[in-house]
Amino acid sequence: MTLSPGELARTGLRFDLDQPLPGAATVTLSRPERRNAQTPGMWRGLAAIGRSLPEQVRVVVIRGEGSSFSAGIDLRLLGGEAVPGSEPLPSPADPGFEDWIASCQEGFGWLRQPEIVSIAAVHGHAIGAGFQLALGCDLRVLADTAQLCMREPTLGLVPDLMGTKPLVDIVGLPRALEICLTGRILAAAEARELRLAELVVPADEMNGAVSDLAAAILTIGPATARATKELLARAPRSTLAEQAAAERAAQAPLIRPRVLTPGAPTL
Ligand code: ACO
Repeated sequence: MTLSPGELARTGLRFDLDQPLPGAATVTLSRPERRNAQTPGMWRGLAAIGRSLPEQVRVVVIRGEGSSFSAGIDLRLLGGEAVPGSEPLPSPADPGFEDWIASCQEGFGWLRQPEIVSIAAVHGHAIGAGFQLALGCDLRVLADTAQLCMREPTLGLVPDLMGTKPLVDIVGLPRALEICLTGRILAAAEARELRLAELVVPADEMNGAVSDLAAAILTIGPATARATKELLARAPRSTLAEQAAAERAAQAPLIRPRVLTPGAPTL
């Protein structure tokens, strides 16, 4: 399902093809007056973008408009209030409640697909669902103003938007537990130390840094980038021998055309 720009705007999102560069696309959370608070409607909008992503898009940048990346779930929903552009939260007693969460998670899962590299460009607050959205991306560039916080347990909830696995993968179980159960704020410098950021830059240099990163990734041919991402993604759950076999299998289709056609461009 493709959403029109107007329909996307009603979910609080904007999609810009060929931004910041041809071959890339930028998704902007666009509810600055609410610090880009997220709703199920927004998650459906994200999922729709993922499903209809044009084939030429190889880098996706996720950013927030205004002073925050995202202040997490729109808290009015937790209070049972209606929020424009979104359905209300269902009752946990409803049959299919977990399926409903799965449908919300679709808004995040596509960011890890092998055909793209996703980059979260985080400035200001990334709280709860905002932090999880940043964790859902392959890479994170933080402005020095960034503040990350996993607030869900403080509100009596668990993080359920696919953020727990990348958090543990990156910082390890003890630190993830400490971050989640204290609900404390991580400033950009600590986030970099914990490897939650690939890069921390002054806020006014963030757009340039993201653009440079996207440009570097786009110099790699699409088949090579995809195969490399798939190979690296399987490494943590592989033995050395399994990974070596996966390297061999991934190389064959890439190298063959070059052997047959010397000077051929990178795939
Ligand atoms: N849901 C709904 N509205 C929000 C949210 C939110 N998560 N965050 C901010 N807003 C609204 C405020 O109510 C305020 O609205 P108003 O102008 O009508 O009063 C407006 O956005 C601006 O918010 P301020 O608090 O004035 O902005 P400030 O820049 O001072 O602070 C901050 C930003 C730190 C993000 C603060 O708004 C905040 O703590 N928000 C709540 C964060 C939160 O607990 N999120 C839930 C996480 S758990 C989860 O995501 C599942």
